[in-house]
Amino acid sequence: MCGVVGGVSERNMVPIILEGLSRLEYRGYDSAGITVIGSSNKLARQRVTGRVEELAKICGNENFRGLCGIGHTRWATHGGVTIDNAHPHFSNDKIALVHNGIIENYAPIREELKAKGYEFKSETDTEVIVHLIHSLYVTNKNLLLSVKEATKQLHGAYAIGVMCVDNPDEMVCARLGAPLILGLGIGEMFFASDISALLPVTQKVVYLEDGDVAIITRAGYKVYDAHDKEIFRKPNISELSVTQTELNGYRHYMQKEIFEQPDAIAQTLQSLGNSFNTNVFGRDAGKIFKQIDQVQIIACGTSYNAGMVAKYWIEDFAGLECRVDIASEYRYSKPPKRPNTLIVSLSQSGETADTLASVKYAHELGMTNTLAICNVAESSLTRLSKLSILTQAGPEIGVASTKAFTTQLVVLLYLANTLAMTKGHLTSNDAEARIRQMRCLPQLIIDTLKLEEQLKLIAKEMEYKQHALFLGRNTLYPIAVEGSLKLKEISYIHAEAYAAGELKHGPLALIDKEMPAIILMPGNLLHDKVKSNVQEVLARQGVVYLFTDTEEDVTAKCHRVVKMPENIAEYLLPIIYTIPLQLLSYHTAITKGTDVDKPRNLAKSVTVE
Ligand code: F6R
Repeated sequence: MCGVVGGVSERNMVPIILEGLSRLEYRGYDSAGITVIGSSNKLARQRVTGRVEELAKICGNENFRGLCGIGHTRWATHGGVTIDNAHPHFSNDKIALVHNGIIENYAPIREELKAKGYEFKSETDTEVIVHLIHSLYVTNKNLLLSVKEATKQLHGAYAIGVMCVDNPDEMVCARLGAPLILGLGIGEMFFASDISALLPVTQKVVYLEDGDVAIITRAGYKVYDAHDKEIFRKPNISELSVTQTELNGYRHYMQKEIFEQPDAIAQTLQSLGNSFNTNVFGRDAGKIFKQIDQVQIIACGTSYNAGMVAKYWIEDFAGLECRVDIASEYRYSKPPKRPNTLIVSLSQSGETADTLASVKYAHELGMTNTLAICNVAESSLTRLSKLSILTQAGPEIGVASTKAFTTQLVVLLYLANTLAMTKGHLTSNDAEARIRQMRCLPQLIIDTLKLEEQLKLIAKEMEYKQHALFLGRNTLYPIAVEGSLKLKEISYIHAEAYAAGELKHGPLALIDKEMPAIILMPGNLLHDKVKSNVQEVLARQGVVYLFTDTEEDVTAKCHRVVKMPENIAEYLLPIIYTIPLQLLSYHTAITKGTDVDKPRNLAKSVTVE
């Protein structure tokens, strides 16, 4: 939520910031702004409501340039989408600041500052930070010191970049509970919410820790930790490249990411190796997996749906009780304190505020065996957890998660089997067979992606629908949930998912000839049960879109049947059945003309509560 980028350089920062902002736009895209310190040592600012593209149009003026600058792309929390609320915010035309996060105690600080004569021009929580820094700077005349003192007074989350006209050669950054990195160039130094913003200028980055305050100049950087001790934070060379974060011929990131799944899964499988091995989860995983007697999964959104699938696998394969909780619920619940619990957090970004808070909460409750399954190396979540493992999906930029979800499922399937091995529930023959079958996934997905033309036809029929119902059983129930989430978030069609057995307990009342029912019916053990549900919908004139690998009497009565690949191992079904539902939502959104990669009101990385 909100992206920040900036830096001090020997060249004009405006194009660098604009490029960085467009790469951060997935984090928020309701307004954007940029400020540079111009040649006359004055703050010059451009802001728009809307997209970075609009901002770039008004930054074309030759005179709008500077060697020191900051930029912001906003996802509104405090205050509506207006120019006044867009960042950067100023104090007395001297200090400028960009912020990602939420300041919870902004109200009393605002009152204090107002009493001192500060005039507020926005409704944001951010504006208190810049005035607070200014109020301290007036006496100490030192930007670094002012930021250090100001951040001590803030409650909440922040990643900030601050500059002052008195010294256009330096900039101060700070983070707590929101991601921030430094980018190291030659004769230039940058900061940003994430590496994607800086890839065109550098791959050398420093990950700041919670509580850090950093000062950057063209020549270098210094970091002070939460105890105000100067600390060396080592630079890392990112393995990401600029091309990985570009569209490369695809129309949308979501489309690119759907079609990258065979590769992303192949990479993920390769990183896991040829056997179920505890070591891939971290050095102590073998010991921890032996100790634990239950699993608690915590996640949000699509990651939560992956967790729901994993519950079936973990209970079935490893015989371990598995709870799955939505992170925003878990963090305020009172779970039993069972130290022998493996806390598994799932997150594409590793920066989701509720997921991070839940892992911290589990630690406070004495449940310290934490494992993060994450797509971003060095994210807050991986650093917070005792054990971690990366999904090798590569950067996911489309707001609707696709390849992160299926690679999470692959790692979770691997985890369930590794736990089963540790608990003596898996013979080495079965283990080998499962690894072999998992290795078929990339090709199975390539085959399933060939269904695209059929899904385009269904998408056309969805265009004028107001509602849709998704049904599935067992591991296909969470996939129905995920399919409905994808459809609603990018095509704005109200979609709901039910465990098919629940149909008679309410949702059947919704069925009529207008209601599309998307039903997942693989030829597995529960096939006959789902078939009865299909009959129930048909008997009430429901419009059935059936996804199945079987052929029988009932299929003839369905409105459309999508023939899925046959002979797929039971535990691979949820991964394979996800693919057509992603394509369906993508093409429905295209048909409806919505903004696929940046759906209204949403942001990719939810770093606020
Ligand atoms: C939906 C979607 C979101 C995220 C959720 C958690 O397509 O992308 O529901 O899954 O915000 O994000 P992460 O996985 O980054 O913690």
